[in-house]
This record gives sequence, structure tokens and C-alpha cells, in this order.
Amino acid sequence: MADNLVAIACDHGGFDLKVQLISFLENKGLKVLDLGTNSTDSVDYPEFGAAMATAIEHGEANKGILICGSGIGISIAANRNPTVRAAVCHSGLSARLARQHNDANVLALGARLIGVETAFDCVEEFLNTEFEGGRHQRRVEKLSKS
Ligand code: RB5
Repeated sequence: MADNLVAIACDHGGFDLKVQLISFLENKGLKVLDLGTNSTDSVDYPEFGAAMATAIEHGEANKGILICGSGIGISIAANRNPTVRAAVCHSGLSARLARQHNDANVLALGARLIGVETAFDCVEEFLNTEFEGGRHQRRVEKLSKS
């Protein structure tokens, strides 16, 4: 799987932001694996959180971005899979910390709570920040065992 590939999924509440994020990612030369939904017609976020989890678990992507109205429901859905560490972020700093300390492999965004520029900041930090390891390594390993 290419390291320059990012999976993305949303519900109807996140669709408009997803379209903007796909352009943002493609303009950076990244490839996007789009797992839906594909319109603003009402859908159920657990299906799209689960689709992301399957893609991460099967190695179709190393990193993913989820979007719903709040970022909460779709992240809860994805986090039911122990291979996923999805973090709801509301700022570039929270996204940076999610990578540095939690080795988050999925960024979750709330399209009804943050603006597009903040979403771009979150994505930049999520994609460009390395996990610090060290004392955080043990803690992250415990997440997969619980
Ligand atoms: C859909 O209306 C909304 O509930 C959903 O996008 C999300 O915010 C749930 O957590």
C-alpha cells in the first residue's frame, strides 16, 4: 500500500467537507481512497466508520480521515476495531498531539463544529507529524489489548 494514500469516509453531515478535503489532499499529490458516502442523502455513520476500520485493518490505507456532523459518532464506530486509533480533533494542535502521543491512524472531524480552514490545519498536522514513541509506545500498545 502506498504511503501517499489516505482513506476518507463521511456521513451526510460530513459530505460537503469531504469534497473539499479530497481536493486539498489531491492538490498535495496524495491519492485518496474514498469510502463514501457520496451525497448529502441521510445515511448512518456506523457504516462508514466500519468501512474505514476495515480499510485500516486490511492494510488498504495506513491513515484515514472520517467526517460526520460532530466527528463523534463516526469515530466511536471506527474505534470499535482495535486496529483503529481514531481521534476527534478541533485544532491543528489537537491533531498534532493525536499523532505525537497517541499514534492516531484516523483523524475524525466534525463538519458542523469546525470551519474548513481548521479542518485543513488538522489534516496538515495529522499527515505531517510523527509519533514520538518513548513513553507513549507502551500506552498505545495497551490500547490494542483492552
Ligand atoms: C447526523 O445528523 C449526525 O448525528 C452525525 O453526523 C454525527 O454528528 C453523529 O455523531
